[in-house]
Amino acid sequence: MRVLSGVQPSGKLHLGNYFGAIRPQLELQAEHECFYFIATYHALTSVQQRADLEAYTLEVALSYLALGLDPSRTVFFRQTDVPEVCELAWILSCQTPLGLLERGHSYKDKVAQGLSPNHGLFAYPVLQAADILIYRSHLVPVGQDQKQHIEMTQDIQAKFNLRYGEILVRPEPLIRPEVAVVPGIDGRKMSKSYGNAVELFCPLKEARKRIMSIVTDSTPVEDPKEPSRCNVLALLRLMASPQEVADWEDRYRRGGTGYGEAKKRVFELYEQTLGEARRRYEELSRHPGEVQRVLADGGRRAREVARQTMREVRAACGLVNALD
Ligand code: ADP
Ligand code: TRP
Repeated sequence: MRVLSGVQPSGKLHLGNYFGAIRPQLELQAEHECFYFIATYHALTSVQQRADLEAYTLEVALSYLALGLDPSRTVFFRQTDVPEVCELAWILSCQTPLGLLERGHSYKDKVAQGLSPNHGLFAYPVLQAADILIYRSHLVPVGQDQKQHIEMTQDIQAKFNLRYGEILVRPEPLIRPEVAVVPGIDGRKMSKSYGNAVELFCPLKEARKRIMSIVTDSTPVEDPKEPSRCNVLALLRLMASPQEVADWEDRYRRGGTGYGEAKKRVFELYEQTLGEARRRYEELSRHPGEVQRVLADGGRRAREVARQTMREVRAACGLVNALD
């Protein structure tokens, strides 16, 4: 099975990205042919300072490699190293009903946040469909918030194939229910744009400060607490053993345990879970040339696959094939 996913270089990666998307993606490397990429074209919809885009792109690359992406197994690349994807996006946009895009949650949310939308933001799902379809991906591991984009891809793929024949492969989303929505320190979905994230590789002092400021209710230490409603336990559950989670739930219900104690444990678990990756991240940061080589090599491998799909797509649509 071919597995594909992308992440936008639009800021520093956080625990929501890691548990919701990156870790499940990396686990799939053992058994599948994986294509993972840095969605640089998509990021242009919101990151429009050159230095920021360059820095975030390197940051995502370093993070994936530090967290265990194996470039000898997985094709790891920058979206922009395969410009054919923009051509496919155009071809697909001619099969995409306007109404489908108007119903996009992500687009509607950003407009509701007051962002004045550009055409790229509106057409974002079509480029995402092109990403998925150009590599003939079967499975797309993502967090819950991306489900609608994969469903739109399925709709667009079906429309394309109905008109032009069985050229493109139908992808399925792969969403792990237990980590579908990782909460941030204020209890809402953890997100770069909500300012409620705990970053993966920020200075430890800063991570500690964020974790110690997780929002809790004001139940006194001695009173019983409801484990299912606690933002601290929600993060602890991601990192502790099932036995330890059960112990904390028990202690909460009995009373006598303060939220501060649980927060300290979350910070310890954070250090343990990411400690090894943090060392690799620091080491790799000293060798940016090595990272660029990995991405360039991945780009070449990805582009070969994309070009083959485009030959078939162009021929199917009746476009003169100039790629051969
Ligand atoms: P953000 O919301 O911080 O901008 P992105 O939209 O760049 O994050 O998400 C990158 C990937 O991480 C996507 O697959 C997304 O579903 C996943 N993801 C992001 N935040 C969370 C979260 N809080 N819980 C689970 N998955 C998440
Ligand atoms: N939209 C995704 C996000 O914000 C990033 C992305 C772009 C993607 N293209 C993709 C994810 C293709 C999966 C498959 O997280």
